Amino acid sequence: MDFSRDLICENLSVCGDHLLFAGQDTAALAEKYGTPLYLMDEERIRKMARIYRDTLAECFGDKGHVLFASKACSFKRMYGIMAEEGLSVDVVSGGEMTTAYKAGFPMDKVYFHSNNKTDADIELALDYGVGCFVVDHPEELTAISEIATRRGVTQPVMLRITPGIDCHTYEAVNTGKADSKFGSAIVTGDAANITWMALTSTGVELKGFHCHIGSQLFDSEVYFATVDVMVDFLKDMKDTFGYVTEKLDIGGGYGVRYTANDPEIDIAANIRAVAARMKERVAEAGIEMPHIYMEPGRSLVADAGLTLYTVGAVKRIEGYKNYVSVDGGMTDNPRYALYQSEYTVLPATKMTAHRDMIADVVGRCCESGDIIQPDVKLPGDMKRGDLVAVLTTGAYNYSMASNYNRIPRPPVVMLRDGESYVAVRRETYEDIVRLDE
Ligand code: LLP
Repeated sequence: MDFSRDLICENLSVCGDHLLFAGQDTAALAEKYGTPLYLMDEERIRKMARIYRDTLAECFGDKGHVLFASKACSFKRMYGIMAEEGLSVDVVSGGEMTTAYKAGFPMDKVYFHSNNKTDADIELALDYGVGCFVVDHPEELTAISEIATRRGVTQPVMLRITPGIDCHTYEAVNTGKADSKFGSAIVTGDAANITWMALTSTGVELKGFHCHIGSQLFDSEVYFATVDVMVDFLKDMKDTFGYVTEKLDIGGGYGVRYTANDPEIDIAANIRAVAARMKERVAEAGIEMPHIYMEPGRSLVADAGLTLYTVGAVKRIEGYKNYVSVDGGMTDNPRYALYQSEYTVLPATKMTAHRDMIADVVGRCCESGDIIQPDVKLPGDMKRGDLVAVLTTGAYNYSMASNYNRIPRPPVVMLRDGESYVAVRRETYEDIVRLDE
């Protein structure tokens, strides 16, 4: 049989009728841990982390750094793995920060992003000794400056700059344009103004600049354009204020394969190309090479994840439509409901059966928008008790999960060296009512 459209990542294989993930039988894992179940391939996460880390080191020596954008997948064990691989992390909330802290992550390697830090967030980050704040706008800078000055500390900060690049991605995650809710735009003069403000404020030390142009990107041109705009900006800040940038973070965004239609991207080759452009432009501009940071989220963890479900109702509405309902849904994967994201959905225990039924794979929420994927090809004899696997769910699935309909969130089980362990336990109904008075 031809599984080329199914096995879209190297950690997938088929044995008999069963789908294997990281070399382990998905049916055996479902039996052991129950469903719905998030599986994560620890080796794949480490492999991707090393590709970023080693390629940035190859290109920039000790001036190349990787931050894991932990919004993609945040729980204690994940911060542990990133620490072991020598990565820094980006956090965007007190919750992510606290998770990193509780995991024993070195807080000086934590970068605190977010477009709207509350005073409480700022105090908490200072309590934890967060390494760097990535400041979004002037009011926030004033708040950080005041709080740090009152505490008698000097907080390293970077400034989020909006380079004004339209990356042609889907609008909901298109964060690099000048009219974005994120950062200060170069084109309006706001970026230069906040730079001057940071240079002249007490309680903060300006370390450099940050930008992020979008997500699920496959096109290197977008990164080249970012490099060009940002290097020009660095030169402008040097010429105007005499400021020499120490750190430049060009964000995350590399795309992953959700289906066989998505291209396979060579991250190392892309980083090398971006680095070459950076060196060229920095030399042309006659400025010092800053420390270069990249902050991938999705491409570090997405294809290290797979979700397993058990089929419940199989509804064939003659002349209309077929539905295969599973025991999870938009509560553990809201990405189709939010973005109409494509996924590869496989009959994990009937891999060799002829797939002659087209069905919408739907969840169990009381909402017709609770669709995991429409128009999936599945075997015509799918029935209650069969397993379904959804691929590439390691990014923005667990981290975006909810308790809608008071449905408990699935556990996250890590796979490593032929063994498995629970990284996040399954929520219970007791957990669900825990906060209710
Ligand atoms: N840095 C910043 C400042 C970001 O805002 C993001 C993602 C990243 C890094 C990481 O980007 P990545 O490498 O993961 O593309 N929930 C959406 C994705 C939102 C991305 C938001 N920012 C989804 O499920 O597709």
